[in-house]
Amino acid sequence: MNLNPYEIRDSCRRNLNKYTIEAFSSIPPINKPLILDMGCGTGVSTLALTKISNGKIYAVDSDNSCLLWLEEKVKALNCADRIKVIHASVFDENLFDEKFDIILAEGLLNVIGFETGLPVLIKHLKDIGYLIIHDEFKSDREKRALFKKHNLEPLNAFVLNENVWWEDYYRCLEKSISKKDERLFEKEHNEVIEFKKNPEIFRSRYYVLKK
Ligand SMILES: C[S@@+](CC[C@H](N)C(=O)[O-])C[C@H]1O[C@@H](n2cnc3c(N)ncnc32)[C@H](O)[C@@H]1O
Repeated sequence: MNLNPYEIRDSCRRNLNKYTIEAFSSIPPINKPLILDMGCGTGVSTLALTKISNGKIYAVDSDNSCLLWLEEKVKALNCADRIKVIHASVFDENLFDEKFDIILAEGLLNVIGFETGLPVLIKHLKDIGYLIIHDEFKSDREKRALFKKHNLEPLNAFVLNENVWWEDYYRCLEKSISKKDERLFEKEHNEVIEFKKNPEIFRSRYYVLKK
C-alpha cells in the first residue's frame, strides 16, 4: 500500500496523543467548550480532542496542504459539525468573532517565537480560559517568567524526554519508511538521522495554564 508522508507521520504522531490528553485532563471539566487548535498541522491532536471533549474545535494552520489532508479526515469521520478547518496565520487580524475556552498550541510557538506568539494566543482566550502549550524543552525559566508577566497560572507541566520521542515517534517513523522509496520520504529519513545524532534537542515540554 502506498501511504503518503502525512498518513505515515499521522500514524506515529497519534502515539503522542496520550500526552495531549494528559495535559487536557488537567483542565477543570467544561461543558461544550469552544477550543482553538492553533498551528494544528494535519489535526492529529484536533481529532483526539474531538473524542475526549463534547466541544467544538477550530483547527487553524497557515499551511493549506496539511489542512486539505485534515479536511479529508474530517469528512471520512463525519465530524464536520465539530471541527471547523481554517486556513489562516495566527498573526491575521480579526480572525475570530468569538473567544475560546481552551487554546492548544503544539509545536507552534517554537516556530513563530515564544515571546511574540504567547500574547497573540492569550488575546483569543475568554476572561477565564486555558492554554495548553507544547514547546521545545529549552528556556523553561524564561517561559515561566513570561507566564507570570501575562498573569497566567501554571496548572501542570511535564517533559517528553528523548526516550519518549524515540519510543513513541521516531522508532515508528523509521520503521514506517524503512521499505519505502527514500526519495519520497527524504525529509522523514533526514529527521530520523538528525534524531539519532542529537536526541536531546528533541526533548519537549507541555505547559497547562489558566488565564
Ligand atoms: C510542528 S508543527 C505542529 C503541528 C501540530 N500542532 C502537531 O502537534 O502535530 C507546527 C505547525 O505550525 C504551523 N504554523 C507555523 N506558522 C504558523 C502561523 N503563523 N500561523 C498558523 N500556523 C502556523 C505550521 O504550518 C505547522 O503545521
